[in-house]
Amino acid sequence: MKTIVTVNSVAKSYQETQVIQHCSFQIYEGEIYGLLGINGAGKTTLMKMILGLQQIDNGTIYVLGEEAGNHPEYLSDVGSVIETPTFYEHLNATELLSMHLCYMQKTANIAETLHLVGLNNVNHKPISQYSLGMKQRLGLARAIIHQPKLLILDEPLNGLDPIAVTELRELMRNLTDQGMSILLSSHIIGEIRNTADRIGILSGGYITQEFEVAEKTSEYGAHFEDYVIELMRGGSK
Ligand SMILES: Nc1ncnc2c1ncn2[C@@H]1O[C@H](COP(=O)(O)OP(=O)(O)OP(=O)(O)O)[C@@H](O)[C@H]1O
Ligand SMILES: [Mg+2]
Repeated sequence: MKTIVTVNSVAKSYQETQVIQHCSFQIYEGEIYGLLGINGAGKTTLMKMILGLQQIDNGTIYVLGEEAGNHPEYLSDVGSVIETPTFYEHLNATELLSMHLCYMQKTANIAETLHLVGLNNVNHKPISQYSLGMKQRLGLARAIIHQPKLLILDEPLNGLDPIAVTELRELMRNLTDQGMSILLSSHIIGEIRNTADRIGILSGGYITQEFEVAEKTSEYGAHFEDYVIELMRGGSK
């Protein structure tokens, strides 16, 4: 299996506070890897380091064969939505995506991408008039329009209605079927269970447990959540 991301013994602190330490995991081609951790566990921090947006104090991160750091070239093959996406809100969706493509020096079918994320009926409405869910969809459109090999989604289901959640799951599955790898984060067990292939539990600054969702679902059945909560608390079963 081809490795897309390798996080190797990474450490990160903000001032005096150690947020990440001895953190190691890998993401393989075509899989959805779910990072599960409570608020403040360091999920966003890890994602930002993978994207070269936060400095790594110790250890290494390799993405698509290249070391993460300042302005790495692999970023043209990565798409991301970190926390709540921000936009130039006076633009409409088409203008925003065409500006993004220009910046990324790529071409793509904007109408097709908007259709894919369910934003085909927004016409010329400025982004300032979008609902939260519409902004989430637009953030996703911006993250996938240049057909990245790696997609990083920080709590992607926030603000989405149940139909949108189902649609987004299907979209993620279609993208991985085409070979894309996805890293997503969540603090909601049920959400990540229904979306990810593998889960890594981030607790105390590192991945304390890692497992295949299908395997543990069949092992624990209705007690899957209890099992995972115990792991998130720092126990082991
Ligand atoms: N820029 C920063 N400066 C100082 N401390 C920070 C900074 N960013 C994050 N932190 C701290 O690092 C810790 C981890 O934050 P992070 O945002 O990575 O967690 P998270 O797992 O994404 O949480 P959430 O589920 O709430 O999004 C928190 O204690 C937070 O206060
Ligand atoms: Mg976060």
